[in-house]
Amino acid sequence: MTTDPGHWVALARSADLGAKPLRVMWEGEPLVLFRSAKGVAALTDRCPHRFVELSKGKVVEGEIECPYHGWRFGGDGACTAIPGLCEALPPLRVRRFRAVEHEGAIFVASGTPEGQPYSHCLAGQKIVTRVVRSSTRSTLIDAAENILDATHTHFTHKGVLRGLSAKRYRVKVEVTGGPGWVEASYEGEEEQHGLISKLLEGARMKTVGRFLAPGIAELEYWGPKGMVLATSFHLRQADADTVEGVGWLAGPHQGGLGHLKALFFKPLFRVALEQDRRVLASARANAVPGQKPVIGPLDFLRRDIAKILDGEMPTAAAAPRVHYIEL
Ligand code: FES
Ligand SMILES: [Fe+2]
Repeated sequence: MTTDPGHWVALARSADLGAKPLRVMWEGEPLVLFRSAKGVAALTDRCPHRFVELSKGKVVEGEIECPYHGWRFGGDGACTAIPGLCEALPPLRVRRFRAVEHEGAIFVASGTPEGQPYSHCLAGQKIVTRVVRSSTRSTLIDAAENILDATHTHFTHKGVLRGLSAKRYRVKVEVTGGPGWVEASYEGEEEQHGLISKLLEGARMKTVGRFLAPGIAELEYWGPKGMVLATSFHLRQADADTVEGVGWLAGPHQGGLGHLKALFFKPLFRVALEQDRRVLASARANAVPGQKPVIGPLDFLRRDIAKILDGEMPTAAAAPRVHYIEL
């Protein structure tokens, strides 16, 4: 695995994992998630006996039972039963991953990260959240950049996010960064001309788009009284052609009004997500292996996201940048 072992990665929503085991892909490796006696467990989804998918079996007394010969494995990966065997069990095991359930999602680590997983930028406040998931034919860098890219919204999301009117604003973009993160802060756009903003926001003060290692793309919308809306998408390369994500849509509670807004926001968000899935899938299918994409003058975060994914310090950490664009 190339993912930094020091990070938690969100692999599924809590709601996706019931009594049945769940197979999830993580950088080409299949994992089985299930609810063990000691909480959520994550093992390599491959029985060591004949390589059958353990996720095709069932959970019995908090252990996973292979559908072929019934071998069982506990949440720690140790084999606990070989049906028919009259002697002592040989010491067999499946690789296990640290797993934890947090803020409505299941996080897994390939190493031993410190502390609780990071979920979203409004965690710990009085907020309304919705947890969503997505799957897109793309690469991690293309999908993360897409979420953080302001200039595509006039076209890909015409009417939904921007483009209801042809009016553009002169916007100041400040790009800053540090170890494992880079962000662009947009100021000067008084209002975003799209349905989502009409429903959800008043005056716009600033918008922040941020990338965090190992694959989190988050957007913050700030009004005069503070943050009005945030989306944090945790992306991972599931296999060579597929990016999967678990995302939080979060907003202030506002004495119940937040719930009402969340109700409207989620379906509109789904529309925008579908529009992005379409362009990303088209780009992936049409890309020529070995041909590098042009990094345009408005692609402020692309190079730094690439650096972070390579485990390097983003350029913006030592050299913050300011740009002016029409948005
Ligand atoms: S293949 Fe799993 S028990 Fe035989
Ligand atoms: Fe988009």
